[in-house]
Amino acid sequence: MRITRRQVLAGGAAALAAPPARATGPIQELRAAPATSPIGPEGLAPTPVWAYGGTVPGPEIRVRQGDRVNRRLVNGLDQPTTIHWHGVRIANAMDGVPGLTQEAVAPGGSFDYGFEVPDAGTYWYHPHNRTWEQLARGLYGALVVEEPEPPEVDRDLVLLIDDWRLAEDGTIHESFGMMHDWAHAGRLGNWATVNGRGAHAETVRENERLRFRLGNAATARVFPLRFTGLAAHLVALDGMPLAMPAPVETLTLAPAQRADVIADVTAGEGAVARIVEPDQRGALALADFPVSGRARVQPLGPPRALPANPVAPLGDLGAARSVPLRMEGGAMRGLAEGTRRGGFGGAMDDMPAIWALAGTVGMPERPFLEAGRGETVRIAMVNDTAFPHAMHLHGHHFRMIDGRGPGPLRDTLLVAAGETAEVAFVADNPGDWMLHCHMVEHAASGMMTWLRVA
Ligand code: C2O
Ligand code: CU
Repeated sequence: MRITRRQVLAGGAAALAAPPARATGPIQELRAAPATSPIGPEGLAPTPVWAYGGTVPGPEIRVRQGDRVNRRLVNGLDQPTTIHWHGVRIANAMDGVPGLTQEAVAPGGSFDYGFEVPDAGTYWYHPHNRTWEQLARGLYGALVVEEPEPPEVDRDLVLLIDDWRLAEDGTIHESFGMMHDWAHAGRLGNWATVNGRGAHAETVRENERLRFRLGNAATARVFPLRFTGLAAHLVALDGMPLAMPAPVETLTLAPAQRADVIADVTAGEGAVARIVEPDQRGALALADFPVSGRARVQPLGPPRALPANPVAPLGDLGAARSVPLRMEGGAMRGLAEGTRRGGFGGAMDDMPAIWALAGTVGMPERPFLEAGRGETVRIAMVNDTAFPHAMHLHGHHFRMIDGRGPGPLRDTLLVAAGETAEVAFVADNPGDWMLHCHMVEHAASGMMTWLRVA
C-alpha cells in the first residue's frame, strides 16, 4: 500500500535540485556516500540514503554535445561501487561495469572517469555494482547534453522519477534481496518522488513552453504518465530525437528510460497543469504546475524536431544476421532444466539463479554475440516469462524492427510478457558491452549477458 501523499498546495516550493555544473577545468569529485535527504512524507525526519555529492538526485551534470565529462568517483560507501553513464555511447573503458570494463572501486578508493559525449539528449548516471541496493538507496543523477542550438523553450526541467519502499518512519525499508521480489516484478515501492521529493510543484505561466526531461530512476517500477493542462509533444526517447515530434497525452516510462517532452501550458490562470501517474486509486500527481500569469497570448504550437544525433544508419536488414535472445525464468515459469550458469567469475557467480538470457543465468564466460565493427546486427528478444522486462544495451542505441519498419532509437526497451521484440543496431562501438534487464533485481538474479564488438 502506498503511503498517503500529502496534497500539493498551489504555489508550493519547487524541489531543490542540485545546481548544474559545467565540466571544464580540473576534475571534479563525485563522492558516493551515506547522507540524509527529505525524500519521504512531510513531517518525518530526513531519510538516511546513499547519495552522490550528498543530494538525491546527485548533482546534475550539464554539458554541450561533444564536450568532455571528467569526474573522479570517490567511494565513501562500505562496499565497492562504479558509475555507469547510462545511454552515453561512451568509450568502453569508461562504461563502469565491474569485471567487464573495470574493477569495482573499493571503499575509500577512487576512479577517474573522462569521456566525450557524442550525442545531445537526456542521460543519467548510476552505480553498476549491487545496483539493486545502491540505486534503490538514492545513488543516481542526471546527465544532460545540450544541443549546440537548443530548441526555444522558456524552461528546461529535468524530472527524475523514483519509486521507494519506505518504512512507517520514512526510512528505506531494509527488505533488500527478497527472493520473492526478485522472482516477480522486482522491488516495488510505496512512495514516489520527483527529483528526490514527494511533491514537485512549480508555478508556470499560461502558454509557457516547457521542456521536460523525464527519467525513471526506479529499480523496477514502470511509470505510466499522463499530461493534463499541457499540449505536449514527445521529441526524444532515451536521449535520441524523434524524426517527427509526436503529440502525446500518455507515455510509459520503464526503468532507466528517458523521454524529452516539449509542452505548452494550456491550463489557464488559477488552474494547475499536471504530470500524473494514472493508477487504480485515481490519478497520483507527480508534478504540479499551478498557473499564474501568462507567457504569451497564443501557445507556440507544435515544436520542430530536434537535430539528429550522429548515429550510423542501419545497414541492410535483409542481409543482417538475427541472433535470438530468449528471456526465461521467474515466478510462474521457472528455469528450464539444464539451464547453464554463467562462468564469468567474480562476484557475479554468487547470484541467485532465477532468470536466464540466451540459456544462461548471468554473465557467460564468452559473449553471447560477437559482432564485426560496423556490422548491422539484429537481436530477437523473446520474452518467455510472465513479466515485462526493460532490456538495456550498453554503448549503442538500437531500433525496434517490425512490420512497420524501424522504430525510434532507444537504449532501453520494455518487452511485455509473452512478446517478442526484434531490435537492430550498428555495432560500431568497439568493446565488451552488457545487455541486461534494467529491473535491476532481475539482472542481479540472472538476466544479464554481454556482447563483443571487435
Ligand atoms: Cu542503466 Cu547496465 O545500466
Ligand atoms: Cu526483468
